[in-house]
Amino acid sequence: MRNLVSIEDLDRAAIERIVALATNFGQVADRPIKKLPSLRGRLVINLFYEASTRTRSSFELAAKRLSADVLNLVSSGSSVDKGESLRDTVATLSAYGPDAIVIRSPHAGAPALLAGWTHAAVVNAGDGKHQHPTQALLDCYTLTQRLGSLEGCNIWIVGDVLHSRVARSCIQAFRMLGAQVTVAGPPTLVPDEFAQLGATVAHSLEDLREADVVYALRMQLERMEDSLVPSLREYTTNFQLNARRLGARQLLMHPGPVNRGIELSGEVIDSPQSLITNQVAAGVVVRMAVLYEVLAGAPPETDQPHSQSPALEPQTA
Ligand code: CP
Repeated sequence: MRNLVSIEDLDRAAIERIVALATNFGQVADRPIKKLPSLRGRLVINLFYEASTRTRSSFELAAKRLSADVLNLVSSGSSVDKGESLRDTVATLSAYGPDAIVIRSPHAGAPALLAGWTHAAVVNAGDGKHQHPTQALLDCYTLTQRLGSLEGCNIWIVGDVLHSRVARSCIQAFRMLGAQVTVAGPPTLVPDEFAQLGATVAHSLEDLREADVVYALRMQLERMEDSLVPSLREYTTNFQLNARRLGARQLLMHPGPVNRGIELSGEVIDSPQSLITNQVAAGVVVRMAVLYEVLAGAPPETDQPHSQSPALEPQTA
């Protein structure tokens, strides 16, 4: 795998390989020394044109845990503020000889453009409303850890699907692993077109109890140019996930950041059925696996178990 721009760059085997590799990296995360030498001498540039807490910090940690050099650039405070274009910024950073560039951009398609301008591997850390492939992979990892498999799992993605790159990537990844996906919310935020991605479309939570996993999305108020819901009060009345709507057996996920009290009530965020903290922790090991895949290459095509992967050699220096 050279670049990771979209979940469409992967097939089921590739997702399962990344999840397996992340599981092995998870074993290292429990050791006193969490670092591996796998990417020693490599340079990873994190180029963030949009706000991020989880994705940026976990990509930085992931690269450092694999012993890569890491350069973090956020648009605010850089020469982007002076009008430097993405292309010129990339040309400038390319002078440092990066091996990988991780990019988050408000513009759909920016990572694909970047991949045409650089010899570095490109990893999409979220582009506009288009894709957030590493979020979907960490969600697959989180569910695999909890359930063993997503085969036959019934997953409801609830909320602002329209503006959500997470929803687009998760629908594709969850389905590839054998789950059935329903997207639910008001018609203005859950257009019928999502059926084209293979999801069932619902405009009420009447049948929510059939879900094994309920994946709530953030109301992306900053991306809403028009008033797509009559009021947040009406949205919460009809679609907020709270203790009344969520069954005790159902697992709850959210990519973060959460609008506490809007898409989720405080009680369910902090409940034992919430996997939100597991998702954050998974970000590090899954992004280690993705950086390893794009920089150290796919493992040889043998039946060799991932536990024998060179990625798990102990840190020697
Ligand atoms: N889930 C996610 O992408 O969170 P951040 O915006 O904090 O990176």
